[in-house]
Amino acid sequence: MIDFLLDASGLSAGYGETIVLEDLSLRVGAGEAVAILGRNGVGKSTLLLSLLGLTTRHGGVLRYRGEDISSWPAYKRARAGLALVPQEREIFKSLSVEENLQVSAMGDGNGGERGGNGWTLDRVYDLFPRLHERRRNLGNQLSGGEQQMLAIGRALIGNPRVILFDEPFEGLAPVIVDQLVDAFWKLRANGGMGVVLVEQHAELGLELTDRALVLDRGREVWAGRSSDLAASPELLATLVGLESA
Ligand SMILES: Nc1ncnc2c1ncn2[C@@H]1O[C@H](COP(=O)(O)OP(=O)(O)OP(=O)(O)O)[C@@H](O)[C@H]1O
Ligand SMILES: [Mg+2]
Repeated sequence: MIDFLLDASGLSAGYGETIVLEDLSLRVGAGEAVAILGRNGVGKSTLLLSLLGLTTRHGGVLRYRGEDISSWPAYKRARAGLALVPQEREIFKSLSVEENLQVSAMGDGNGGERGGNGWTLDRVYDLFPRLHERRRNLGNQLSGGEQQMLAIGRALIGNPRVILFDEPFEGLAPVIVDQLVDAFWKLRANGGMGVVLVEQHAELGLELTDRALVLDRGREVWAGRSSDLAASPELLATLVGLESA
């Protein structure tokens, strides 16, 4: 019986000898979404990169579907079903929307069996009709919102079991954020993916998730049910700062 898709315990990690994260624990179950909250520079992106094997590990254990993957290289974690929607979006600017998606679909070496969610080009277009309209456009001709849709589509089409979002709504107009939030709920409803959502806007992050982890300077300062923290605005304000609560 596998209880958690991802189970990090006592994780310490950073860049080379520099330690950024200390003693963090995080569990993500199938169909569950966990928010990572905290001010700028507290280590949210570093935590996602650490789950993906893209930082230097200084301690702790990371299990994926019950298996210790702490020493697995990034490519092996990706192949096993961990996907990132990066903060910088990182789409191919000189490829069309459809080519961007096709390139990512090729990475799904298990023929769509990786997460069993069966994401295909058509299903990504169903989720984001805008991408279908823009399928012949090059990456560098897309708006910020369209780029974010494409970044999400690229992650999904690899059929991940766990999808990590790094501030997917950052810098986008409210109407586009609403569309992406809709899509977020649809993809959550679509099979038992585990979701980790890094979000600066704590209220939104809490609304979209089941549990939350709040970081400050690389350490846990709060962990628990998102609804509990959302119900305590004063606590939230002290944890993440008034401006983002
Ligand atoms: N490649 C790197 N090499 C060395 N230090 C880094 C590197 N990337 C980030 N850091 C440092 O790690 C710390 C955490 O950065 P990180 O990007 O994880 O924070 P964050 O919470 O994602 O911030 P933001 O909200 O601005 O995206 C910062 O002190 C940052 O300077
Ligand atoms: Mg970041």
